[in-house]
Amino acid sequence: MPDRRPFIAGNWKLWGTRAQASEYCDRLMELLPDESRRPADVGLCVPFTALDVCVEKLRGSGVKVLAQNMHWEESGAYTGEVSPAMLAEVGVDGVVLGHSERREYNCETDRALQQKVPAALDAGLHPILCVGETEEERERGETQRKLRHQVQEGLEKVPSERLVEVTIAYEPIWAIGTGRVATPEIAQEAIAFVRALVGDRSREAAEHVRVQYGGSVKPGNAPEILAQPDVDGALVGGASLDPEGFVQIVAAAGGP
Ligand code: 13P
Repeated sequence: MPDRRPFIAGNWKLWGTRAQASEYCDRLMELLPDESRRPADVGLCVPFTALDVCVEKLRGSGVKVLAQNMHWEESGAYTGEVSPAMLAEVGVDGVVLGHSERREYNCETDRALQQKVPAALDAGLHPILCVGETEEERERGETQRKLRHQVQEGLEKVPSERLVEVTIAYEPIWAIGTGRVATPEIAQEAIAFVRALVGDRSREAAEHVRVQYGGSVKPGNAPEILAQPDVDGALVGGASLDPEGFVQIVAAAGGP
């Protein structure tokens, strides 16, 4: 059994002024065990304007700081965009790419993600690539087709030997912000399928790549989801805004 360390990341989405970020990080540091006693890697995905506050507050703690989007170009006529090097300069560790909310509201495409994922790696940033089906797609039996398309496109320009540096988050859209968490069986099945897709490129990468589950993860349901053999952590939205609850989810990665 490969030793994949779980990765629990909180996605603040549109939350977190600099003052709120500062207060949150202070509280998190009070609650979170030292890095050597944590059962998982821990990260926070925060708005651009709070990145430097979190980098500063969490320095030396082992907690990773991630942005929630970026452009793939270094510079150019792309008003409102932020480049990989700009994020790296702030001391950010990684970036969430292809979140379903950006796909839905901001026209994020698989074609753009094909550029963004390798651009993040080239800048030394750890990408979390989000994939997942809608409720309609699941009902029509198109879950695997959708996941295959998103995973293959998103990873197409990543060299095989670097696939393992990407984290993939399986986030079924019907479970995001709805309180309808996927059953452990559904999460396991979909994530095993995502892993097999990585295996089509590199068997070794498939064994080591981390695949998170996201969608209505809470302290109460985290233990049984995280206990699934292919689930390597969670991308937590709403429940991550409460540091107490977030720390309980991190603890759940250690098993019962
Ligand atoms: P919720 O945990 O609020 O359902 O959000 C999940 C998510 O989209 C994390 O990226």
